[in-house]
Amino acid sequence: MKSPRNFDRLAGIYCALEHVAFGRDLERARFVHLDWLKESRSILVLGEGDGRCLEQLVSAAPKARIDCVDFSSAMLARAARRIAGDEPAQRVTFRQADLLTTDLPPAQYDAVITFFFLDCFTAPQVNDIMARIRTSLRPDALWLWADFAMPANSLARWRARIWLAGLYAYFRWQTGLAARELPPVSQCFLEMGFVRRAELTLQWGLVRSEVWLFQPNYQRMISP
Ligand SMILES: C[S@@+](CC[C@H](N)C(=O)[O-])C[C@H]1O[C@@H](n2cnc3c(N)ncnc32)[C@H](O)[C@@H]1O
Repeated sequence: MKSPRNFDRLAGIYCALEHVAFGRDLERARFVHLDWLKESRSILVLGEGDGRCLEQLVSAAPKARIDCVDFSSAMLARAARRIAGDEPAQRVTFRQADLLTTDLPPAQYDAVITFFFLDCFTAPQVNDIMARIRTSLRPDALWLWADFAMPANSLARWRARIWLAGLYAYFRWQTGLAARELPPVSQCFLEMGFVRRAELTLQWGLVRSEVWLFQPNYQRMISP
């Protein structure tokens, strides 16, 4: 499958690059909330990457069937190798697909994971992807989200702006990413009926990891 948006060339060096840039903080962001999924039965993982999350997830959610979707065949191959031969491999399905153009697997998931995935897209693309994910979720489903973010503190914002400009330029060069700035993910969560249940901030606010609960009947209180 060919597309300008392709992470294949980064699959082999992605982990090393990340460790050089941020140490273990992105892994902390991915793993810190996985315990929330220990009772989950059906989990959708979008933009899984090289399988480091999946390797932890199969233990953290021992009863779950897991659908893993990623556009990069090289990333999916790495993820599959990490769990190959183990019992959990029977519970995992890999699917190579472009989330911008294909439908999500037709299941009613009780959890979804997007780690450092939504920030690959523009605001309209994120709105569309999140709306489609929403229709695949059961009420009370959990959404584990981690991404880069803009900190509140003004000094930290300057640091973040420099990092984000560099990261977007690098990924645009390497993968043809269309996005040039962070999409308004938190706003989409709130507008789509999600309530934040947990959060962790790392790297002076540049990295956020959150748990959102899907409450489709929840009416957000908006001050007049
Ligand atoms: C920045 S990496 C993040 C990988 C991993 N989730 C992590 O925590 O590091 C983005 C991942 O999303 C995948 N991806 C990007 N655009 C995609 C699309 N349109 N459809 C499906 N997967 C996509 C890439 O192949 C890559 O594995």
